[in-house]
Amino acid sequence: DSYSLLILPGDGIGPEVMTEVVKVIDWLQANRGLSFDISHGLVGGSSYDAHGTPLTDETMAKAQAVDAVLLGAVGGPKYDDLDFSVKPERGLLRLRKDMDLYANLRPAQCFDALADFSSLKRDVVAGLDILIVRELTSGVYFGEPRGIHADNNSDNEGGRVGINTQRYTSGEIRRVARSAFELARRRNNKVCSMEKANVMESGILWREEVQWVRDNEYPEVELTHMYADNGLMQLVRKPGQFDVILTDNLFGDLLSDAAAMLTGSLGMLPSASLGKPMANGRPKALYEPVHGSAPDIAGQGKANPIACILSFAMALRFSFDQGAAADALERAVEKVLADGVRTADLMGPEGGTPVSTSEMGDRIVA
Ligand code: NAI
Ligand code: MG
Repeated sequence: DSYSLLILPGDGIGPEVMTEVVKVIDWLQANRGLSFDISHGLVGGSSYDAHGTPLTDETMAKAQAVDAVLLGAVGGPKYDDLDFSVKPERGLLRLRKDMDLYANLRPAQCFDALADFSSLKRDVVAGLDILIVRELTSGVYFGEPRGIHADNNSDNEGGRVGINTQRYTSGEIRRVARSAFELARRRNNKVCSMEKANVMESGILWREEVQWVRDNEYPEVELTHMYADNGLMQLVRKPGQFDVILTDNLFGDLLSDAAAMLTGSLGMLPSASLGKPMANGRPKALYEPVHGSAPDIAGQGKANPIACILSFAMALRFSFDQGAAADALERAVEKVLADGVRTADLMGPEGGTPVSTSEMGDRIVA
């Protein structure tokens, strides 16, 4: 059978790194008997240039219909002065919102060859392989009421108050918990859930509902709970103690950015955002590198394509059930790095073989 994939290269280095993913796809089709039904579309500034909107309804409909969407990056200085309603980022936000992608997956994987790039000591991060699952569509970034108001009724210096609301329903917690437990099943059956149940009611609910899903639906998974402040400290102190970390939108924002620094360059970090299961049982899914459109290096063949290639490896694993192909692809990346092949962002004091975006793609395919 054939898998449907919508490729949205986007802006800046997005199309450059996506070209390398297409090389990988071509190789898999020619050598591994996989078959992809690929369509291409525009998102971000490139869509605005062509259609006056960062995402057309047609592209949105296509994204809803495919097995997986793979996105490069959006944005760039050319679009900085556009009206907010048509900014490139709005295209990405609409994809995430309309597809209801509530589980954001950020793996923190440290390839041995890059362990010296970490902000931590080599022996703390070498071989690290953890997965942060962050709730992405609710919590304090979305909760009502919110706003900045006058507050003159007290001896409040400045006379204003800023309000955001941390709000989670049990249903929102259960569905993202299921995502984390499903992922844990494919890994080491181990989840650590993080909140602040010591000081927040939403944290108490979070803890109870996650435990409920574990007890009723995933009894084989080992579940622990940790206060998120301690969790962040533990992540930096001894990251190898974790496997899957499940947390809310706000704490996940902090934890995933910190985890990114454990592993080195922005050019290495993949991500996935998953939604409800579709008719075929697999979740709606958008895969994208963590980095942006990198206007400072766009068009120069300097971009590291590995983040985008590893995002596609996640698609192989989670949307196409091709775990063996995903493993092979990750091993190819590992091998190329071990051989000292380096795009500019990975060039450390120990040197290496400097390569362009396209050469990096070729080496991985080889
Ligand atoms: P950025 O991630 O584009 O770049 C930050 C720094 O990392 C730059 O020095 C860049 O050259 C470097 N870098 C990023 N990806 C790289 C790669 N694959 N290989 C080598 N070096 C890499 O973030 P920045 O500069 O804050 O934003 C640039 C534009 O991208 C803005 O318009 C921003 O809105 C947009 N952006 C888009 C995102 C997305 O599409 N998901 C995420 C972040 C930013
Ligand atoms: Mg962040």
